[in-house]
Amino acid sequence: MASSDRFDTLLSEIRTFAPPSDFVAQANFSDPGIYEIAAADPEAYWAQQAGHIDWFSHYKTVLDWQPPHAKWFVDGKLNATYNAVDRHRLTSRKNKAAIMWEGEPGDSRVLTYDMLGREVDRAAHVLTSLGVKRGDRVAIYLPMIPELPIAMLACAKIGAIHTVVFAGFSSVALKDRIEDAEAQLLITADASWRRGSVVPLKNNADLAVEGTSVQRVLVVNRVGAAANSQMREGRDVDWETAMAAAPTSAFPAAVMDAEDVLYILYTSGTTGKPKGIVHTTGGYMVGVNTSMRTVFDLKDDDVYFCTADIGWVTGHTYIVYGPLSAGATLVMYEGAPDFPDRERYWRIIEKYGCTIFYTAPTSIRTFMKWGPQYVEKHDLRTLRWLGTVGEPINPEAWMWYNEHVGKGRCPIVDTWWQTETGCAMIAPLPGITKTKPGSATHPVPGVSARVVDEAGEPVALGQGGYLVLDKPWPSMLRTIWKDDERFAKTYFGKYPGVYLPGDGARLDGDGYIWILGRVDDVINVSGHRIGTMEVESALVDHQSVAEAAVIGRTHDVKGQAITAFVTVKEGVTTGDELVAELKAHVVKLIGAMARPEEIHFTAELPKTRSAKIMRRLLRDIAEGRAIGDTTTLADANVIEALKLQYQDREQ
Ligand code: WTA
Repeated sequence: MASSDRFDTLLSEIRTFAPPSDFVAQANFSDPGIYEIAAADPEAYWAQQAGHIDWFSHYKTVLDWQPPHAKWFVDGKLNATYNAVDRHRLTSRKNKAAIMWEGEPGDSRVLTYDMLGREVDRAAHVLTSLGVKRGDRVAIYLPMIPELPIAMLACAKIGAIHTVVFAGFSSVALKDRIEDAEAQLLITADASWRRGSVVPLKNNADLAVEGTSVQRVLVVNRVGAAANSQMREGRDVDWETAMAAAPTSAFPAAVMDAEDVLYILYTSGTTGKPKGIVHTTGGYMVGVNTSMRTVFDLKDDDVYFCTADIGWVTGHTYIVYGPLSAGATLVMYEGAPDFPDRERYWRIIEKYGCTIFYTAPTSIRTFMKWGPQYVEKHDLRTLRWLGTVGEPINPEAWMWYNEHVGKGRCPIVDTWWQTETGCAMIAPLPGITKTKPGSATHPVPGVSARVVDEAGEPVALGQGGYLVLDKPWPSMLRTIWKDDERFAKTYFGKYPGVYLPGDGARLDGDGYIWILGRVDDVINVSGHRIGTMEVESALVDHQSVAEAAVIGRTHDVKGQAITAFVTVKEGVTTGDELVAELKAHVVKLIGAMARPEEIHFTAELPKTRSAKIMRRLLRDIAEGRAIGDTTTLADANVIEALKLQYQDREQ
């Protein structure tokens, strides 16, 4: 089971926080009865929520559940972009700011719903003129610029399936995803800005599309001459030129079935290549829209700031489809939290008067490390809701967030969810739930979560086990792209009909859920999900490496840090030079977020008699703990040697 240290710390956590009374007075939901109503008849609850989405034709059945396959809102017809943009253009929200964009080198841009709608329509015309049709896949490899949501929404408007690849991924990782999704078109930029320097997106894209199904590349001009990129005649199209040439007429929204695929988003698993998580239109839109009203307590006058990158699911759901479907005004920020200085987020909140702020625990731990002086320089009185996502939050970070950012006035909303779940599953309702620092509290209304033992039996209060979701929910993944077998096995293989997220959890004496972290070989570095297997494969791909084992070591800012144990081939000289080379190799194959923090060379890796690497023991070594049970080791000397060697290095 995951991190016993965290388990011990949590056991001693006894503080509770009632929702601030000013917050309760204005909350969308303040009656705990909502939980009972939803639990008594979840389908009726979700049907009621579906009333907040505009349907071109009404669904016939709320749910058709043939485990592990769910169909929600069967035969309902709708369009995600119509719901996220166009319907607001017909109301008093028409001239309301939809996206207030803050660019890295000081650029900014505001798009009202009407302006956003016109941009999306033009982009939809452009996509069509480039031959993109309903059901086709479009890969998007863009930085955090308005063209990113515009491109996604244009795909959804014509019924094409987008697959967004985080712009921090390497060309190799991009290629893998393009190939798996068999994308026809790639949308990218000449380059992107990161902390004042230029990231060569187009050059990566050129390498990635070579030999793939991609026919055309649409290129946004973000950086200009400094990008040093070339356009390829006949293949590459300039975004701005194409947009200027496109008809200005409205593009009719494609009438999509509730179960038509909206997008594919790749995420890491225990084994093999990243999996293409498939989300469909109806259930996803109902789920994400619901959580804006319940978990986020969104109101029409909110100014909403989520610091995630749209390249990850948090950005898909809580920058694009969730807030826009709810008609919110959102702030979208291109840059890093510490560029040009450590006040960047606070300055943005002050500038735009943000009311809702959603970030990752790793950022909060970074702010803590910097000290409160940067926050304190700014007037953050507009804030009324603070949330976290992506990894377990430690009670100290929770308290710091509450005290220094929220000044005790804002509920702290710790949201547990995954790429697969589509939206927040376990989280407080901020006007109802008494919070405890470090606990995501309870499943949201309409969702059923349990903590179970090996046999699938619910554990008693005070006990730990596997977190499961034992009833279907609208925004659940429908399958893994082109690999339904893997979908069934990974998520529904352990307990039939019950979804297994892969996280360990514990129930406290009051029935609160405390997420402990992954129970599989997935690590979470600064809220980014990385498969140990992917990093191991990247290391082994290097000519000098014979074998590699990768683990996540507890890290006080990043949550976990990637630690690699490597054995080299005969005659290879180990040393700092090789360490640097191996790190660079991982960055080249995956991206900078997968760069190992430490690489240790070892003569042998600890293995079981059936030759399975015992990562658990490596974790014990890296975290300086007493070594666990070694009885299944093929050769007990290996671990002793490693331990001595590790201690030497640490000194
Ligand atoms: C972890 C991100 C504890 C968890 C939305 C999950 C969390 C994985 C929390 C999914 C939280 C996410 N508390 N752990 N509030 N939120 N996680 O797919 O291990 O990038 O399985 O989705 O992040 O990561 P993913």
